[in-house]
Amino acid sequence: MEKITIFSPATVANVSCAFDIMGFAVEEAGDRMTFHKIPEKGIRLIMKNYRELPSVPEKNVAGVVALAMIEKRQPDFGILIEIEKGIFPGSGMGSSGASAGGAAFGVNQLLGNPFTNTELVQFAMLGEALASGVAHADNVAPNLFGGFTLVRSTNPLDVIALPVPRKLSVSLIHPLIEVKTKNARNILKKSLLLKDAVTQWGNVAGLVSGLFMEDYGLIARSMQDGIVEPVRSMLIPMFDKLKQAVLNAGALGCSISGSGPSVFALSEGMETAAVVTKAMEKVYAGKDVPYEMFTSAINKQGVSVLNKK
Ligand code: HSE
Repeated sequence: MEKITIFSPATVANVSCAFDIMGFAVEEAGDRMTFHKIPEKGIRLIMKNYRELPSVPEKNVAGVVALAMIEKRQPDFGILIEIEKGIFPGSGMGSSGASAGGAAFGVNQLLGNPFTNTELVQFAMLGEALASGVAHADNVAPNLFGGFTLVRSTNPLDVIALPVPRKLSVSLIHPLIEVKTKNARNILKKSLLLKDAVTQWGNVAGLVSGLFMEDYGLIARSMQDGIVEPVRSMLIPMFDKLKQAVLNAGALGCSISGSGPSVFALSEGMETAAVVTKAMEKVYAGKDVPYEMFTSAINKQGVSVLNKK
């Protein structure tokens, strides 16, 4: 194979109560990346848009992943990566995760698929470490695997693919301000009360069970985050209003997507999700907050091949 173009989906990490351990992939938003074999060894990068992002491989999320992979395999060719971002950096929709996961997938293909999916997640985590200072896997795992994933442990890496209830649909609104994951992590409390931890892990277990049992009521009851959301919601314009509007419109639950500022809601069925997205829009419409929105199915495939030759 000389060249491959892929779609690398956006992801919603945390999924309310499951900070740093759960995420899911989104069908309607993502990056496009093309990988070419080139005669000169090493990695070259071209940013097709968002040219303010570094194109020096050592400083680029996709670049560090690709460099680590060729360092391991020492191919007798180089790789040129063209990146067309469909996800705003700093949006909370897994922008760095899409670049990192996409790079891991695309480079692996040109190398002849020597690495397993779990190894790809490990390489992609290097990109997350560059972007946020922490090698979290809750975006790159669903980006690569698709659907919902649970990262039980990052060391050793243990990723579990969770089932996607058939009707589960997502609404996303992205107020066009940038929140850097590093900053959104720095404001979090470093310790918590045991009683709050008990409530939180009850909800995480409930959410996982709800996905397995396709129990939308249980999913709704479990989408409560008493630890991270109350702190980070301060960074998001009109978060409380947005959440109330979304729940009134029939969503199962609503929380911050990744480290924000995007806000997501899960609904039973695309029709309800479309109503919920409209309710989100109403809160921001006419206010001084530019935004973009998506109503989407859950992406079940993860990174996908658009064409290759
Ligand atoms: N779990 C990470 C965080 C995701 O919330 O900081 C960042 O996209």
